[in-house]
Amino acid sequence: MAFELLRRSSADAPHSPTCSSPSSDIGTPGTERSVLFEGTFDASLDNLHNQYILVTGGLGFIGSHTSLELLKSGYNVIVIDDLSNSFRTVFDRVQLLAQRYHTAQGTKCPTIQLHDVDYRNIPALCTLLDAHKTTFPWEATPRSSIIGVIHFAAFKAVEESIRQPLKYYSNNVSGLIDFTSTLGAYGIKNFIFSSSATVYGTVANKGVPLREEHCVHRPETFPGTAELVEQGCTGITNPYGRTKWMCEAILSDLAFSDPEWTIVALRYFNPIGCDESGLLGEDPKGIPTNLLPVVVKVMTGQFDQLSMFGTDWDTPDGTAVRDFIHVTDLARGHIAALATATKGELRENFRTFNLGTGTGNSVTDVVEAMETVSQKPIPRKAVGRRAGDVGSCVAMAGRSQEELKWKTEKTLRDACEDIVNFLRVREEEQKLLQQGQGGVVAEVSS
Ligand code: UD1
Repeated sequence: MAFELLRRSSADAPHSPTCSSPSSDIGTPGTERSVLFEGTFDASLDNLHNQYILVTGGLGFIGSHTSLELLKSGYNVIVIDDLSNSFRTVFDRVQLLAQRYHTAQGTKCPTIQLHDVDYRNIPALCTLLDAHKTTFPWEATPRSSIIGVIHFAAFKAVEESIRQPLKYYSNNVSGLIDFTSTLGAYGIKNFIFSSSATVYGTVANKGVPLREEHCVHRPETFPGTAELVEQGCTGITNPYGRTKWMCEAILSDLAFSDPEWTIVALRYFNPIGCDESGLLGEDPKGIPTNLLPVVVKVMTGQFDQLSMFGTDWDTPDGTAVRDFIHVTDLARGHIAALATATKGELRENFRTFNLGTGTGNSVTDVVEAMETVSQKPIPRKAVGRRAGDVGSCVAMAGRSQEELKWKTEKTLRDACEDIVNFLRVREEEQKLLQQGQGGVVAEVSS
């Protein structure tokens, strides 16, 4: 497998969409539809050897699992990740797992490269994009060998966003504007955006499964009725959530203004679990706030007990209900979205999709499932509701099933088993490291 690591200082990131090289020589036909949207750019696996998917935040929890699934599906991957909430070793592990997979299949493993840089560092981005311009003798202007972008890089801590909203608007919203402006200048207009069920705001509390039409950016009629749904949002409870909604709205406007763009916004419900190998997991830097990482801290003795935020919600057991989706299923949703977009099969050039199972489980259900699988008690106490939480948030999964030909395959129990396996593997690795043996990282470099 080819391997590159490009390291740049994020200190020199100017946070401006100005390229170090002029983009005026880059062909961006203004009136035709995207070659990708038309499906004339052959994205079949046979022809992917010199084509790339750019993945920002590709070493984070969801990003790393998606990078792995992209490699398994035959795509070359370019990761941009500044390691602010991820680790360099994750790159080695993704590479190792992809190699193992392709060796077992008897197929050639695609390439993955890492650019250790803030996605807002526009000069660094331009250098990368310049290196991927391809000239064909029969075309006047170069085109990019990057056939699609999956954009994960963003801040995501709800509570922090309430305390530091500008940090969130700057990175998540301003960053997206500069990023897409630059991509557009290079003619790279096939874009998958990491959105969230948070865009449904307090509509989630209505107790009905959430469907994409509950939050739209252009007026639509509700399926099966004449009911008009107007663009906008209802009761988004925190700045993080608003950044996701704003980014979707910006991308919708961009797609409307320029039909060359093909944009998919994937609304994630609650991703949990990890790759079944136990080599990738959810490992946030700093103090975790999401449910499963906190549960893991309790299981490993780093936290005394789990605080269960709110036991008085209008739900069967009083604890909040979420649609917990296995992260490998979620990652595969991106592959399905990419395939649909590159084949030109999206119904509109901006389309939102829920990525969820369609089934809700309560916080208590999750904790009890982890206790059953790990055979360990998880100490917990009931405390008051957390600021910005909603009582229930469950997907209607029909649109993704029908239009992306994707559905979840893994269960809550699978996710718990994979997390327990991840903890076991990590413990064994730590023992090996203490004994001076290299563990998985040694296997990568051998
Ligand atoms: C939130 C966001 C979601 C975002 C995700 C990523 C909202 C409404 N939801 O999801 O969009 O993608 O964060 O960070 O903005 N819980 C406890 N104890 C804990 C931790 C969590 O009881 O120590 C409970 C929470 O109160 C909640 C449930 O577990 O009811 C799930 O929480 P969490 O994993 O943080 O995800 P969400 O809040 O659903």
